[in-house]
Amino acid sequence: MITKVVFGTPFRTDAITAEVPQAEMLQHFQVNAEGAQTLFTYPLQHRDIVYGLSETMGRVNKRGGRYISFNTDTADHTDSNPSLYASHNLLIVDGGEHFGIFFDTPAKVTFEIDYRNSGLIRVLCESGDLNVYQIEGSSSYEIARELNRAIGRCYIPPLWAFGFGQSRFGYKCEQDFRDVVEGYQKAGIPLDWICMDIDYMDRFIDFSVDKQRFPDLAAFVQEMAEENIRLVPIVDAGIKVEPGNPTYEAGIRRDAFCRNKEGGYFRAGVWPGMTHFPDFLNPDARAWFGEEYAFYTEKGIEGFWNDMNEPAIFYSEYAKGPRKLNFYLDMIFGKFRKKKKERDLIRDYKSFFHQADGKTYRHYDVHNIFGALMTRASSEGLEKLLPHRFLLFSRSSYIGAGRYGGVWTGDNSSCWEHLMLNLRHMPSLNMCGFLYSGADTGGFMGDTTRELLLRWLAVSAFTPLMRNHTGCFTRQQECYQFDGTEEFKSIVSLRYRLLPYLYSEYMKAALTGDLFIKPLAFLFPEDEKVRDIEDQLIVGEGIMMTPIVTEGATTRSVYLPQDMTMVKYDGKTFTSTPAQKGTVTIEAALGEAVFFILDGKRVPVGPAITNTSQIDWEHLELLGNGGEYALYADDGLTREYSLDNLRILR
Ligand code: GLC
Repeated sequence: MITKVVFGTPFRTDAITAEVPQAEMLQHFQVNAEGAQTLFTYPLQHRDIVYGLSETMGRVNKRGGRYISFNTDTADHTDSNPSLYASHNLLIVDGGEHFGIFFDTPAKVTFEIDYRNSGLIRVLCESGDLNVYQIEGSSSYEIARELNRAIGRCYIPPLWAFGFGQSRFGYKCEQDFRDVVEGYQKAGIPLDWICMDIDYMDRFIDFSVDKQRFPDLAAFVQEMAEENIRLVPIVDAGIKVEPGNPTYEAGIRRDAFCRNKEGGYFRAGVWPGMTHFPDFLNPDARAWFGEEYAFYTEKGIEGFWNDMNEPAIFYSEYAKGPRKLNFYLDMIFGKFRKKKKERDLIRDYKSFFHQADGKTYRHYDVHNIFGALMTRASSEGLEKLLPHRFLLFSRSSYIGAGRYGGVWTGDNSSCWEHLMLNLRHMPSLNMCGFLYSGADTGGFMGDTTRELLLRWLAVSAFTPLMRNHTGCFTRQQECYQFDGTEEFKSIVSLRYRLLPYLYSEYMKAALTGDLFIKPLAFLFPEDEKVRDIEDQLIVGEGIMMTPIVTEGATTRSVYLPQDMTMVKYDGKTFTSTPAQKGTVTIEAALGEAVFFILDGKRVPVGPAITNTSQIDWEHLELLGNGGEYALYADDGLTREYSLDNLRILR
């Protein structure tokens, strides 16, 4: 049951598409208006778990932390950082009472969840205009599903987007991409797509290609297609201010850019230098921006990642001096510079304006919806431009954007803590309607190690978005750059052998408003022992993943809430062994993976392949001890999705 409480005149975020009746505020919430702000307080009980706030630091259980929804371009993924790239203002309280609550406002919101042992949830919204959605249900799982259904059907990528993707900030010319394809092919490691980071562009200008380094992009896309590889270019939010730049000129003609306080167009410095931001809040500007993707689709491109859409600003017409480029100074001068940077950014965010519903909005007041509306603009444009599905994922997001595309979790680092963070983000993102999601596998900042990358791949093998991506000053991070490529082949091939299951489960979840990845506690709510487990996750309806995420370890202990089938994959064979409820120790050397199949469930796996084009849906082996499996299979490309495509395997 979902109801909403309306405060003031809320901005229409379109986060929820279902018709929702209005109601009173849940009993135990206290609401105080504090000037223009609104404060919600709720007394927590001792054993309550609080889920939600998916793209934040900390644990899956958000108790003990302070988090701020204010979308930020930040590589500082440490627990003291309250804001990352997205705002997902959902809390699910699980314990004495059971309910979900979604604070639907694009303004800044501060959450303190039993912070400094206050025993309270305190939610301070920097706006008096918002919808508060309350979701009641018999369990946290039911509440999360209810929310997913109310958001509306989540984004469905093509089958190839479930294949493995390789990326790097720094592939500069056609040959760099050919080298990647060759490297993977020689090592026999599967691959489906390669990202083109900003280096493909002419001076980092969106909707442009450097003609010297990519003389004929359409022909190059075709050349890659012959190897069954898709190219996936990046698109940034800012449009380079430059007469002669067709996108800039079209944006001016269509009056599609954000205005500054003097009434001109706001100018912000990002990768290409001074840019204007498309006014994604304005439906006409969104329609125009979506049309611009024809630049790529005409060249045969079917996949995109949208970036810098918090929006990131390095410097502006009001705050001079490059920000991001001074990253190292930030590290030296620490907090002082960071505070100044934040102040400058807030000044910028208060200095530009949007037009929507016949009104003018100050950016700062609607900040958190900007990236989500960029995703919406591209997604709606691509739906018109392409006859079939496309890959689309974004850095910034807000609840509801999961209908239009996926997300990746931004500039993490090559460290074991961030591998664990990846695991923690996955179930929470699913609760908020972002099923197609994943992290930069191997880590973006800093040099990865062979061991970390192998263990990370064994986690990403289960996440819908599986992409190895790294920054421009890091070591080569492609799987074939390391000694002993057999072990990389083993883990990536595990992903491809599991694809029939992963795709089928994703489609079933998407079409029924279910979650794809969930915490153990969602399935076993009666079992006290699973309440704190965050390094074992349920993937689809049948798999419990149990990755090794500790440096130097080849064993780990796993808690089984019921009898299950243990499956070990060594690169060639799946070996199944019955495992009994309770705690067991598993062993997985590098290049091996161990996971479990829930009692009564089956998992279809295919033979080893090196590309999604080779999936053979007719010859699947069923793992697990259950009876049958309902397989969802379709052509993986058209938009003719339907549960009629289910068929029973025995
Ligand atoms: C941002 C993105 C990163 C990308 C880089 C260059 O930092 O998060 O993934 O590689 O910009 O485009």
